[in-house]
Amino acid sequence: MNAPRTVLLKVFRSGPDDKAPRYDQFRLTAGPRTTVLDALLAVRRRQDPSLAVRHSCLHGSCGTCGMRVNGREVLACVTRLKELGDPVVVEPLAGAPVAGDLVVDMEHVYQRLEPVGRPLVRASERAGKNDGKAGPGPVLEGLERFEDCIECGLCLSARPVAGDPRFLGPVALAAAERVLEEPRGADPRAVLGLVDDAHGAWRCHTAFECSAVCPARVDPGAAIMRLRGRLLRDRLPRLVGRYHREGRS
Ligand code: SF4
Ligand code: FES
Repeated sequence: MNAPRTVLLKVFRSGPDDKAPRYDQFRLTAGPRTTVLDALLAVRRRQDPSLAVRHSCLHGSCGTCGMRVNGREVLACVTRLKELGDPVVVEPLAGAPVAGDLVVDMEHVYQRLEPVGRPLVRASERAGKNDGKAGPGPVLEGLERFEDCIECGLCLSARPVAGDPRFLGPVALAAAERVLEEPRGADPRAVLGLVDDAHGAWRCHTAFECSAVCPARVDPGAAIMRLRGRLLRDRLPRLVGRYHREGRS
């Protein structure tokens, strides 16, 4: 099982000059540790330098290499070919515009996170800071992340989430729940108002596909359930008050 084997990759291709997307096929030799990203970079080196594929860290922490492999959202840099069948079908994430081949525009992730208060890193966790007093400066502050989330967008591609562009989405709802658990200066009422919406926490179908594909164990599905409980507890006093008022009249 550890001997090198030949694998057929079927890779989604779409560029600005293409009339329609297509799938190109590439054969290559893969060892037991060869990842999908290794294979794509080998294709780009030896077979087709025009293949667009994005990556940075190569170890599952930057979130830039998200894609669908055999219909499943994964980080290509930590997904080994030996775990997959043959052929291996590689496609961009769903629910976002394709910038080229396997690269999607990630703006849909950031736009969703922004209103719920994206910077959620403890002062003591900031790079180079452990006194909790001084911040990292305006530029780095803008890049701070919602704790464990690596903003890979896999949860926004997972079905059935990708089918609804108006859905606030698992990544932002999980961030909202985290803000409400520990506001750190954020306005909880504003966050509750944002997520208490048909396209917010109530849009989730409890499929938990978002949690299944999340590579950072954020478990956004469970966060959405906690958020719903929070919203119901928030509504309850008003509902009880209305019930008593209307009962008396
Ligand atoms: S919640 Fe998980 S899947 Fe969604 S963007 Fe964050 S790390 Fe990725
Ligand atoms: S290259 Fe960073 S997560 Fe894959």
